[in-house]
Amino acid sequence: AVSRARAAIAEHARLVDDFPAPGIAFKDLTPVLADPEGLSTIVTALTHGCSSIDLVAGIDARGFLLGGAVARELEVGVLAVRKGGKLPPPVLAVDYSLEYGQATLEIPANGLNLSGSRVLLVDDVLATGGTAVAAAELLHRAGAQVVGVAVIMELAGLGGRDTIARGLGPDVPVHA
Ligand code: PRP
Ligand code: MG
Repeated sequence: AVSRARAAIAEHARLVDDFPAPGIAFKDLTPVLADPEGLSTIVTALTHGCSSIDLVAGIDARGFLLGGAVARELEVGVLAVRKGGKLPPPVLAVDYSLEYGQATLEIPANGLNLSGSRVLLVDDVLATGGTAVAAAELLHRAGAQVVGVAVIMELAGLGGRDTIARGLGPDVPVHA
């Protein structure tokens, strides 16, 4: 599945220069996920070797698409980790820095029993790792434990893996 996923990404991903800010090369995976072979091989590749997961947390916004599919494959539930201002109160919120600018992530503060849950974080792209570490901080505050990070694509050279190792511990696998 990994090599078929790679082929689908190579065929369908679109690179857009200077979006959403000058100097940023944006990797648009929209056409990859719209392709049947792309979605299915990516989901299979991301779930390969995953065990003992209680919950998938998908990060706003393409992490929702992937997270739902990965959760179904692993036969667990899914939690949307949302950008700030989308959820009704009360929320747990964390501010973090992006490759460009600042942002906030939120999860509901009530109604989820996350205590002791083993969570797989899912997103489309890993860049600096700031988003993944921020999402993990929210889950930790809710009593859960992030036991893995799975993304379609890792942008090498931005230190994402090191940031995750520092933030979540060196034993949390990052699967890209
Ligand atoms: C992009 C990408 C990841 C994040 C990775 O999302 O989808 O979520 O950046 O960057 P990091 O590793 O440096 O934190 P972005 O916040 O740009 O917005 P979007 O997902 O809503 O498009
Ligand atoms: Mg994102």
